[in-house]
Amino acid sequence: MTTEVRTTAGSRTARELEQFHSLTDRLVSVTKKAEDAQLAEDLADFLSSYRDDPQKLPRESRELFDAQRLLRRVLLATRDYSIVYEWYMAFKNPHGVDQEVQMKLFWPHVTEAATALAWVKDYDCVLECGSGASSLGLELAKHNHRWIASDIAHHPSLDRAVEEFSPGPNFEFIISDGTNLQEIPDGEVDLVISRSFFEHLLVDDAESHVRSAFRVLRPGGQLFVACPSSIGPPSDITQRFPEYDTPQGLHIKEYNLGELSEVVRAAGFTSIHNRFVRSRYTSLLPLRMQRLNFLPERASRVVEIGAEKTWPLARFHPRRRRAWRRFWAVLGAASVSLLAKKPG
Ligand SMILES: C[S@@+](CC[C@H](N)C(=O)[O-])C[C@H]1O[C@@H](n2cnc3c(N)ncnc32)[C@H](O)[C@@H]1O
Repeated sequence: MTTEVRTTAGSRTARELEQFHSLTDRLVSVTKKAEDAQLAEDLADFLSSYRDDPQKLPRESRELFDAQRLLRRVLLATRDYSIVYEWYMAFKNPHGVDQEVQMKLFWPHVTEAATALAWVKDYDCVLECGSGASSLGLELAKHNHRWIASDIAHHPSLDRAVEEFSPGPNFEFIISDGTNLQEIPDGEVDLVISRSFFEHLLVDDAESHVRSAFRVLRPGGQLFVACPSSIGPPSDITQRFPEYDTPQGLHIKEYNLGELSEVVRAAGFTSIHNRFVRSRYTSLLPLRMQRLNFLPERASRVVEIGAEKTWPLARFHPRRRRAWRRFWAVLGAASVSLLAKKPG
């Protein structure tokens, strides 16, 4: 029988510890298959400090950074997203508590996304890939007939969040690999949402993700991709370590609008638009007007090129860097929010 020996947010319960150990065993055995002795050894070293101490939870940026860097190597060597994300979630948030708090802190972000997706209610069936805690679907599902949230891992806070938000029968969650979406039949979906997800995929998997989105969309359906732009400093945990210029953690690659639209166009999408002014600044406008906030790709690209060209002027000075980011963020260049259409 399993007894709950700890209940505070600062430690793991016996059940969580058992689950964590079993995930850790899986992580080790998956990594062994990659036959990279150095990686296996580095992983064993890292794990040895966590394995036997139920009190030990990562709290410091450095620990999370080291964990992410190691998992990035595991992902590159094994392509096993499932174990990487399940293990990391169990490592970082054993009780889902941090994420729950994060969801509340994230509220402005969610309303921003909600206003940007003002037209979401026009779609019968929405598929969200890499939905994580699924806060977007839990908030918006009531506007659609069907909202399918999907992720490679079951987020620790999802069940509690579903209870708290009561999204109703329109909302469903499935475990699915966003790179093939094999659970979803062709032409089933009206809108695919890929938010803060694309940058987590290996480059060829990101291309497969967009091709799969194209397959599951009905003719005339749309794909919405929002991800951090590669302009400026990295946006994953690496941002806390200014000595690095590119993401070292679980953002495998960050893209600029030009690169992202190339991937999207290669999959067959047309009519590509980018959100111009960040919705946070336009959220006071009537929802219908939010649509005007998407500009044809070429117009947004002009802004992006302006940001790219001026980055070297700011990059070596922390204060200038911050001002630079704020300025271009207002104009939408700090993230890419792209809307593309499947012809038909
Ligand atoms: C940063 S979270 C984004 C969560 C959510 N979309 C949001 O915007 O708040 C990235 C999510 O992608 C998921 N993920 C990573 N690789 C995946 C894959 N191959 N298939 C499906 N989900 C994946 C992770 O489990 C994680 O929940």
